[in-house]
Amino acid sequence: MQQIKRVVLITGSNKGLGFGLVEDILSKSSQQFRVIMTARDQQRGEQAFQKIKAKYPEEEVDFHLLDIEDDQSRESIVKYISEKYGKIDILVNNAAYLLTHDLFSQPEGYQPSVETAKKTFSINLFGTIQMTQEIVPFLTDDGKILQISSRAGQISRQPQQTQQLLNNTEAFTVQKITELAEDFYKQCENKIQPKDQRWSFSAYEVSKCLLNAFIRHVGLSLIKQNQSMYSITPGWVKTDMGTSNAPRTVEEGNDTSYYLISSVPFGRNDQLNCKFIADRNVIDW
Ligand SMILES: NC(=O)c1ccc[n+]([C@@H]2O[C@H](COP(=O)([O-])OP(=O)(O)OC[C@H]3O[C@@H](n4cnc5c(N)ncnc54)[C@H](OP(=O)(O)O)[C@@H]3O)[C@@H](O)[C@H]2O)c1
Repeated sequence: MQQIKRVVLITGSNKGLGFGLVEDILSKSSQQFRVIMTARDQQRGEQAFQKIKAKYPEEEVDFHLLDIEDDQSRESIVKYISEKYGKIDILVNNAAYLLTHDLFSQPEGYQPSVETAKKTFSINLFGTIQMTQEIVPFLTDDGKILQISSRAGQISRQPQQTQQLLNNTEAFTVQKITELAEDFYKQCENKIQPKDQRWSFSAYEVSKCLLNAFIRHVGLSLIKQNQSMYSITPGWVKTDMGTSNAPRTVEEGNDTSYYLISSVPFGRNDQLNCKFIADRNVIDW
Protein backbone atom coordinates (compact mmCIF):
# COMPACT_ATOMS: atom_id res chain seq x y z
CA MET A 1 0.00 0.00 0.00
CA GLN A 2 1.32 3.44 -0.87
CA GLN A 3 2.20 5.60 2.13
CA ILE A 4 0.54 9.02 2.39
CA LYS A 5 3.36 11.49 2.11
CA ARG A 6 3.93 14.25 4.62
CA VAL A 7 4.25 17.73 3.10
CA VAL A 8 7.25 19.95 3.90
CA LEU A 9 7.37 23.65 2.99
CA ILE A 10 10.79 25.33 3.03
CA THR A 11 11.15 29.10 2.82
CA GLY A 12 14.09 30.55 0.88
CA SER A 13 14.86 27.23 -0.81
CA ASN A 14 16.29 28.47 -4.09
CA LYS A 15 19.86 28.27 -2.73
CA GLY A 16 22.05 27.60 0.29
CA LEU A 17 20.77 25.54 3.21
CA GLY A 18 17.16 25.68 2.03
CA PHE A 19 18.03 24.22 -1.39
CA GLY A 20 20.27 21.63 0.30
CA LEU A 21 17.43 20.56 2.57
CA VAL A 22 15.17 19.99 -0.44
CA GLU A 23 17.89 17.73 -1.85
CA ASP A 24 18.36 15.89 1.45
CA ILE A 25 14.67 15.11 1.67
CA LEU A 26 14.22 14.08 -1.97
CA SER A 27 17.40 11.98 -2.09
CA LYS A 28 16.96 10.23 1.27
CA SER A 29 13.27 10.26 2.26
CA SER A 30 11.12 10.73 -0.81
CA GLN A 31 8.95 7.77 0.24
CA GLN A 32 7.88 9.76 3.29
CA PHE A 33 7.80 13.36 2.13
CA ARG A 34 6.87 15.68 -0.67
CA VAL A 35 8.31 19.16 -0.76
CA ILE A 36 7.08 22.67 -1.55
CA MET A 37 10.09 24.71 -2.63
CA THR A 38 9.71 28.47 -2.37
CA ALA A 39 11.65 31.56 -3.41
CA ARG A 40 11.01 35.28 -3.31
CA ASP A 41 12.21 35.77 -6.88
CA GLN A 42 10.37 34.01 -9.72
CA GLN A 43 13.43 33.54 -11.92
CA ARG A 44 15.80 32.36 -9.20
CA GLY A 45 13.07 30.09 -7.89
CA GLU A 46 12.23 28.59 -11.30
CA GLN A 47 15.92 27.95 -12.01
CA ALA A 48 16.37 26.16 -8.71
CA PHE A 49 13.15 24.20 -9.24
CA GLN A 50 14.25 23.07 -12.70
CA LYS A 51 17.60 21.96 -11.26
CA ILE A 52 15.76 19.83 -8.69
CA LYS A 53 13.32 18.45 -11.29
CA ALA A 54 16.24 17.48 -13.53
CA LYS A 55 18.05 15.71 -10.69
CA TYR A 56 15.01 14.07 -9.08
CA PRO A 57 12.55 13.62 -11.98
CA GLU A 58 10.48 10.99 -10.18
CA GLU A 59 10.04 12.83 -6.89
CA GLU A 60 7.12 14.95 -5.76
CA VAL A 61 8.11 18.57 -5.50
CA ASP A 62 6.25 21.79 -6.22
CA PHE A 63 7.36 25.37 -6.48
CA HIS A 64 5.56 28.48 -5.25
CA LEU A 65 6.66 32.08 -5.02
CA LEU A 66 7.03 33.34 -1.43
CA ASP A 67 8.50 36.54 -0.11
CA ILE A 68 8.08 36.28 3.66
CA GLU A 69 8.26 40.07 4.06
CA ASP A 70 5.29 40.61 1.80
CA ASP A 71 1.77 40.23 3.27
CA GLN A 72 0.19 39.41 -0.11
CA SER A 73 2.84 36.85 -0.92
CA ARG A 74 2.27 35.05 2.40
CA GLU A 75 -1.49 35.25 1.82
CA SER A 76 -1.02 33.72 -1.61
CA ILE A 77 0.96 30.72 -0.31
CA VAL A 78 -1.58 30.10 2.45
CA LYS A 79 -4.33 30.06 -0.22
CA TYR A 80 -2.24 27.69 -2.34
CA ILE A 81 -1.73 25.35 0.62
CA SER A 82 -5.38 25.34 1.59
CA GLU A 83 -6.53 24.72 -1.99
CA LYS A 84 -3.90 22.20 -3.08
CA TYR A 85 -3.02 20.35 0.13
CA GLY A 86 -5.51 21.38 2.80
CA LYS A 87 -2.74 21.22 5.42
CA ILE A 88 1.03 20.85 5.55
CA ASP A 89 3.03 18.76 8.03
CA ILE A 90 6.28 20.68 8.36
CA LEU A 91 7.18 24.34 7.93
CA VAL A 92 10.89 25.16 7.73
CA ASN A 93 11.40 28.88 8.29
CA ASN A 94 14.80 29.01 6.63
CA ALA A 95 14.77 32.33 4.73
CA ALA A 96 16.94 35.06 6.20
CA TYR A 97 19.00 38.11 5.37
CA LEU A 98 22.50 39.16 6.42
CA LEU A 99 24.35 42.22 5.28
CA THR A 100 27.80 40.59 5.27
CA HIS A 101 29.77 43.12 7.30
CA ASP A 102 26.95 43.31 9.84
CA LEU A 103 28.42 40.06 11.21
CA PHE A 104 31.66 39.14 9.43
CA SER A 105 34.71 41.44 9.30
CA GLN A 106 32.85 44.27 10.98
CA PRO A 107 34.67 47.57 10.35
CA GLU A 108 35.97 49.14 13.57
CA GLY A 109 33.27 51.08 15.42
CA TYR A 110 30.60 49.48 13.23
CA GLN A 111 27.03 50.22 14.08
CA PRO A 112 24.21 49.04 11.83
CA SER A 113 22.14 51.77 10.19
CA VAL A 114 18.43 51.91 10.98
CA GLU A 115 17.78 50.80 7.39
CA THR A 116 19.94 47.70 7.87
CA ALA A 117 18.25 46.96 11.18
CA LYS A 118 14.75 47.31 9.74
CA LYS A 119 15.54 45.25 6.63
CA THR A 120 17.13 42.48 8.71
CA PHE A 121 14.30 42.41 11.25
CA SER A 122 11.64 42.55 8.56
CA ILE A 123 12.84 39.19 7.19
CA ASN A 124 14.59 37.34 10.03
CA LEU A 125 12.19 38.34 12.78
CA PHE A 126 8.83 39.78 11.75
CA GLY A 127 8.46 37.96 8.40
CA THR A 128 9.36 34.71 10.15
CA ILE A 129 6.95 35.34 13.03
CA GLN A 130 4.12 36.25 10.62
CA MET A 131 4.83 33.22 8.48
CA THR A 132 4.61 31.06 11.62
CA GLN A 133 1.37 32.65 12.82
CA GLU A 134 -0.28 32.39 9.41
CA ILE A 135 0.75 28.78 8.74
CA VAL A 136 -0.19 27.36 12.16
CA PRO A 137 -3.92 27.04 11.21
CA PHE A 138 -2.81 24.99 8.19
CA LEU A 139 -0.40 22.74 10.10
CA THR A 140 -1.52 19.18 10.81
CA ASP A 141 -2.31 18.41 14.46
CA ASP A 142 1.05 16.69 14.98
CA GLY A 143 3.00 19.02 12.67
CA LYS A 144 6.47 20.52 13.18
CA ILE A 145 7.85 24.02 12.72
CA LEU A 146 11.61 24.34 12.27
CA GLN A 147 12.93 27.85 12.83
CA ILE A 148 16.44 28.17 11.42
CA SER A 149 18.17 30.44 13.88
CA SER A 150 21.85 30.96 14.65
CA ARG A 151 24.36 30.81 17.48
CA ALA A 152 24.83 34.49 16.67
CA GLY A 153 21.46 34.86 18.42
CA GLN A 154 22.63 33.39 21.73
CA ILE A 155 21.80 35.77 24.54
CA SER A 156 25.33 35.53 25.97
CA ARG A 157 26.29 37.93 23.13
CA GLN A 158 24.05 40.62 24.59
CA PRO A 159 24.82 43.00 27.48
CA GLN A 160 24.02 41.68 30.99
CA GLN A 161 20.80 43.65 31.54
CA THR A 162 19.40 42.43 28.24
CA GLN A 163 20.26 38.85 29.13
CA GLN A 164 18.13 39.20 32.27
CA LEU A 165 15.27 40.68 30.30
CA LEU A 166 15.41 37.92 27.69
CA ASN A 167 15.44 35.24 30.37
CA ASN A 168 12.22 36.53 31.87
CA THR A 169 9.52 34.33 30.38
CA GLU A 170 6.65 36.31 31.92
CA ALA A 171 7.54 39.49 30.07
CA PHE A 172 7.16 38.14 26.57
CA THR A 173 4.57 38.65 23.88
CA VAL A 174 4.91 39.55 20.20
CA GLN A 175 4.11 43.13 21.24
CA LYS A 176 7.07 43.06 23.65
CA ILE A 177 9.34 41.80 20.86
CA THR A 178 8.15 44.68 18.66
CA GLU A 179 9.01 47.16 21.45
CA LEU A 180 12.47 45.62 21.84
CA ALA A 181 13.01 45.91 18.09
CA GLU A 182 12.09 49.62 18.33
CA ASP A 183 14.60 49.95 21.17
CA PHE A 184 17.30 48.49 18.92
CA TYR A 185 16.38 50.92 16.11
CA LYS A 186 16.88 53.78 18.61
CA GLN A 187 20.33 52.45 19.45
CA CYS A 188 21.09 52.40 15.70
CA GLU A 189 19.92 56.03 15.45
CA ASN A 190 22.36 56.96 18.24
CA LYS A 191 19.49 57.99 20.44
CA ILE A 192 20.73 55.92 23.38
CA GLN A 193 23.76 56.93 25.44
CA PRO A 194 26.67 54.43 25.11
CA LYS A 195 26.42 53.52 28.82
CA ASP A 196 22.74 52.59 28.34
CA GLN A 197 23.18 50.55 25.19
CA ARG A 198 21.27 47.35 25.54
CA TRP A 199 22.17 45.52 22.36
CA SER A 200 25.20 44.15 20.55
CA PHE A 201 26.21 45.88 17.32
CA SER A 202 24.85 43.47 14.76
CA ALA A 203 21.31 43.62 13.40
CA TYR A 204 21.60 39.95 12.39
CA GLU A 205 22.62 38.89 15.92
CA VAL A 206 19.81 40.83 17.54
CA SER A 207 17.24 39.61 14.98
CA LYS A 208 18.10 35.97 15.71
CA CYS A 209 18.23 36.67 19.45
CA LEU A 210 14.69 38.07 19.38
CA LEU A 211 13.57 35.21 17.12
CA ASN A 212 14.84 32.82 19.80
CA ALA A 213 12.95 34.81 22.46
CA PHE A 214 9.82 34.38 20.34
CA ILE A 215 10.30 30.60 20.06
CA ARG A 216 11.23 30.21 23.71
CA HIS A 217 8.58 32.40 25.31
CA VAL A 218 5.74 32.71 22.79
CA GLY A 219 6.11 29.52 20.70
CA LEU A 220 4.27 27.19 23.04
CA SER A 221 1.18 29.40 23.17
CA LEU A 222 0.90 29.34 19.36
CA ILE A 223 0.98 25.63 18.67
CA LYS A 224 -1.48 22.85 19.45
CA GLN A 225 -0.91 20.24 22.14
CA ASN A 226 0.69 17.71 19.80
CA GLN A 227 2.60 20.07 17.51
CA SER A 228 6.27 21.04 17.97
CA MET A 229 8.48 24.01 17.27
CA TYR A 230 12.28 23.88 17.21
CA SER A 231 14.96 26.53 17.03
CA ILE A 232 17.97 25.22 15.14
CA THR A 233 21.45 26.50 14.56
CA PRO A 234 23.14 24.88 11.57
CA GLY A 235 26.67 25.96 12.56
CA TRP A 236 28.86 28.01 10.26
CA VAL A 237 28.13 26.78 6.74
CA LYS A 238 29.55 27.45 3.28
CA THR A 239 26.74 29.33 1.57
CA ASP A 240 26.43 32.84 0.14
CA MET A 241 25.56 33.97 3.66
CA GLY A 242 28.16 31.90 5.51
CA THR A 243 30.88 32.65 2.89
CA SER A 244 33.46 30.20 1.59
CA ASN A 245 35.47 30.57 4.84
CA ALA A 246 32.91 28.50 6.73
CA PRO A 247 34.02 25.02 7.82
CA ARG A 248 30.77 23.13 7.26
CA THR A 249 29.26 21.85 4.05
CA VAL A 250 25.58 22.46 3.39
CA GLU A 251 24.80 18.80 4.10
CA GLU A 252 26.61 18.98 7.46
CA GLY A 253 24.79 22.21 8.29
CA ASN A 254 21.44 20.59 7.53
CA ASP A 255 22.09 17.49 9.62
CA THR A 256 20.04 18.64 12.64
CA SER A 257 17.17 19.94 10.52
CA TYR A 258 17.02 16.73 8.50
CA TYR A 259 17.15 14.69 11.73
CA LEU A 260 14.24 16.66 13.20
CA ILE A 261 12.26 16.24 9.98
CA SER A 262 12.91 12.58 9.29
CA SER A 263 13.90 10.86 12.56
CA VAL A 264 12.16 12.66 15.40
CA PRO A 265 8.62 11.26 15.46
CA PHE A 266 5.69 13.54 14.70
CA GLY A 267 3.87 14.65 17.83
CA ARG A 268 5.17 16.54 20.84
CA ASN A 269 8.69 15.77 22.10
CA ASP A 270 9.01 17.58 25.42
CA GLN A 271 12.80 17.33 25.46
CA LEU A 272 13.15 19.20 22.17
CA ASN A 273 9.99 21.24 21.88
CA CYS A 274 10.55 25.04 21.87
CA LYS A 275 14.24 24.48 22.59
CA PHE A 276 17.43 25.70 20.89
CA ILE A 277 19.15 22.79 19.13
CA ALA A 278 22.65 22.38 17.68
CA ASP A 279 24.17 19.14 16.41
CA ARG A 280 21.01 17.27 17.49
CA ASN A 281 21.37 18.42 21.13
CA VAL A 282 19.68 21.12 23.19
CA ILE A 283 21.96 24.10 23.88
CA ASP A 284 21.65 27.25 26.01
CA TRP A 285 19.58 30.11 24.65
N1 LIG B 1 25.35 29.87 6.46
C1 LIG B 1 25.61 29.94 7.75
O1 LIG B 1 26.77 29.85 8.21
C2 LIG B 1 24.48 30.09 8.74
C3 LIG B 1 24.81 30.06 10.10
C4 LIG B 1 23.80 30.17 11.04
C5 LIG B 1 22.49 30.29 10.61
N2 LIG B 1 22.19 30.32 9.27
C6 LIG B 1 20.79 30.44 8.90
O2 LIG B 1 20.46 29.44 7.95
C7 LIG B 1 19.41 29.91 7.09
C8 LIG B 1 19.81 29.75 5.64
O3 LIG B 1 20.96 30.52 5.41
P1 LIG B 1 21.93 30.31 4.15
O4 LIG B 1 23.30 30.28 4.70
O5 LIG B 1 21.43 29.22 3.29
O6 LIG B 1 21.72 31.72 3.44
P2 LIG B 1 21.65 32.13 1.90
O7 LIG B 1 22.48 31.23 1.09
O8 LIG B 1 21.90 33.59 1.88
O9 LIG B 1 20.12 31.83 1.54
C9 LIG B 1 19.10 32.60 2.13
C10 LIG B 1 17.80 32.28 1.44
O10 LIG B 1 16.78 33.11 2.02
C11 LIG B 1 16.09 33.74 0.96
N3 LIG B 1 15.43 34.97 1.37
C12 LIG B 1 15.98 36.13 1.81
N4 LIG B 1 15.02 37.03 2.06
C13 LIG B 1 13.84 36.42 1.78
C14 LIG B 1 12.49 36.83 1.84
N5 LIG B 1 12.13 38.07 2.19
N6 LIG B 1 11.52 35.93 1.50
C15 LIG B 1 11.85 34.69 1.12
N7 LIG B 1 13.11 34.25 1.01
C16 LIG B 1 14.10 35.12 1.34
C17 LIG B 1 17.16 33.98 -0.10
O11 LIG B 1 16.57 34.31 -1.34
P3 LIG B 1 17.38 35.16 -2.48
O12 LIG B 1 18.24 34.17 -3.21
O13 LIG B 1 16.29 35.72 -3.29
O14 LIG B 1 18.19 36.19 -1.76
C18 LIG B 1 17.82 32.61 -0.07
O15 LIG B 1 17.05 31.68 -0.76
C19 LIG B 1 19.17 31.36 7.50
O16 LIG B 1 18.08 31.42 8.40
C20 LIG B 1 20.44 31.75 8.20
O17 LIG B 1 20.26 32.80 9.12
C21 LIG B 1 23.16 30.23 8.33
